[in-house]
Amino acid sequence: MSDCMSLEILNLRKSFGAATVLSDISMSAGRGEFISLVGPSGCGKTTTLNIVAGFEAPDVGDVKIDGVSMLGTPSYRRKLGMVFQSHALFPHMTIAENVGFGLAMQHVPKPEVAERVGEALAMVKLGALADRYPRQLSGGQQQRVGIARALTVRPKVLLMDEPLSSLDAKLRREMQVEIRRIQQEVGITTLYVTHDQEEALTMSDCIVLMNRGHIEQAGRPEELYKAPKSLFAASFIGESSFLDANVEALSGEAALVRIDPATQVEIARAPWMHPNARLQLAVRPQSVGIRSAGAGEGSIEGVVVSRAFVGSVIRYVITLPGGQEVQAQPSAQQDFLPEIGDRVGLSIERPRWMAFAPEKAP
Ligand SMILES: Nc1ncnc2c1ncn2[C@@H]1O[C@H](COP(=O)(O)OP(=O)(O)OP(=O)(O)O)[C@@H](O)[C@H]1O
Ligand SMILES: [Mg+2]
Repeated sequence: MSDCMSLEILNLRKSFGAATVLSDISMSAGRGEFISLVGPSGCGKTTTLNIVAGFEAPDVGDVKIDGVSMLGTPSYRRKLGMVFQSHALFPHMTIAENVGFGLAMQHVPKPEVAERVGEALAMVKLGALADRYPRQLSGGQQQRVGIARALTVRPKVLLMDEPLSSLDAKLRREMQVEIRRIQQEVGITTLYVTHDQEEALTMSDCIVLMNRGHIEQAGRPEELYKAPKSLFAASFIGESSFLDANVEALSGEAALVRIDPATQVEIARAPWMHPNARLQLAVRPQSVGIRSAGAGEGSIEGVVVSRAFVGSVIRYVITLPGGQEVQAQPSAQQDFLPEIGDRVGLSIERPRWMAFAPEKAP
């Protein structure tokens, strides 16, 4: 089996009435891989998951698990584990009974149910709470019960649709780590839906970024973060400042780009650039260094308009002479930490600039 993928999603198309919801969705996961589907609300994430689960049929395309098409197989025989936003535990059953429910339905013998429930609860570190009722558990614990329940059926693929969206920020971060730990321990192929790009960045082996029914970009988290292929990808994954600019001159590998009459920068040349072309520059706040004005070579200077302390870093907004804004995020340990109203110089390494041709409005 090592030569075939654990999960393959092949050229899915799906319409509801006149609305095309998925245009041409393909992705694959090797065994044990964690893939996140991210994208704005309504882009088709849940629809994709529902087709994998067998709750919806695609108009065109296929879903394969271990190389076998699942289209003719009903949902309950696809060997899937599923975890959704609402964990929907049975309130009148204990945690152990909830977790064992699927197995009991499959007429698995009682001693085996007990053994597998014990294993699954140990995996999510809830063994001690097996005899409690759902109302006696916190939100995060209930979500872990949901995961244990999905794992007891020993699925080949785990599907999760926004499992953490009902939890508060702190618990969410804890559960991100926890889900990833469990997923790696079990070594289970996972398709995870979230609209939270930060969650996708921290958890995934691979991110599939969707936009209006198509895949905008797919790759490893650092790939999407460092080399977004479109303005949409740059704005959806990670934070960026965006600046309107014009190509002033091209030479060899470099492009000289003007942001405003007083501000120009040199960036890496791209094939589509030509003199006077309009472009959108983007730069991550983490890639922007600040220093005192007039101290360095570069020609970017501006005025600090806001300054916010966010834990270990300070979040600055600097206005350039033409009025466009750049965010910088130096470490709070740095010696030079200017105040609002101070004039500063910005240092941005050439490869840190991202440049995109302006996009047509959708
Ligand atoms: N059963 C249905 N009938 C008609 N339209 C549907 C149906 N299910 C989904 N849609 C539409 O398909 C589009 C994609 O929906 P989907 O639920 O896949 O989005 P999503 O990416 O999961 O969004 P969200 O982040 O809000 O959960 C939406 O425009 C939605 O209104
Ligand atoms: Mg959804």
